[in-house]
Amino acid sequence: MPVDTWFPLAIYYEDLADAPQHRQALIEAVLDLEAAGAEPRNFPEMAWTGDLHGVEQIHLDPRFAWVVDQVETHTRLYLGELGLDLSAIDLYIQRAWPVVSRYQQEVGDHRHNTAHISAVYYVAVPESGTDAAGCLAFFDDARPNEVSPGLGSENTNIIATWNYLNQDQALYLPTEGRLILFPAKQRHGVTMNHTEGLRISLSFDIVLTAAPGQAAGAYEFLAPPPSQWRRFKPG
Ligand SMILES: [Fe+2]
Repeated sequence: MPVDTWFPLAIYYEDLADAPQHRQALIEAVLDLEAAGAEPRNFPEMAWTGDLHGVEQIHLDPRFAWVVDQVETHTRLYLGELGLDLSAIDLYIQRAWPVVSRYQQEVGDHRHNTAHISAVYYVAVPESGTDAAGCLAFFDDARPNEVSPGLGSENTNIIATWNYLNQDQALYLPTEGRLILFPAKQRHGVTMNHTEGLRISLSFDIVLTAAPGQAAGAYEFLAPPPSQWRRFKPG
């Protein structure tokens, strides 16, 4: 009784070889930025995220140059795996920020709606490789095999066996030195940090545009590069 599966979500990951050499300097840079950032706006049960605290340009900060380089390299590999013609596109890091999750903190589910690809890099993870410090959870909103919408939810809990054909989320164990890339529109969140240690990650939002040139304005679904834009005169 074969069952075929189609339309996979592609999540890329790589354990970066030089990660241990960069760990301590990255931790210090993140904690410096957190200390110098805006007054905390996060709810106590939510992790500190740089984007809410004026710390969203670490891609321009030389202390993060190594990891920015890695993000660029692996994003190209990821898009190549997805079958894109890399010569036709330009890639930009639009913004990037640290996330610090402490004891009993999490990150609610969300999408990165202003970007195309999102990256996360794990700088420091207590009990790395286990779920203790909080997993990255991806949620499936398409639910292609949910033959009657809502099956398995609170009031219609008739799924006898959860398996790969009906799973509604995928959990990634946080692992120090690992870089993960995923479509920015994929809804995701981070589960609770149950350890007393600091779980430190870096997030990157990446945008695709057409490469400059004749075809750049001709694609229906790819923005021309910002170098071809005109900014309005101040109004
Ligand atoms: Fe995110």
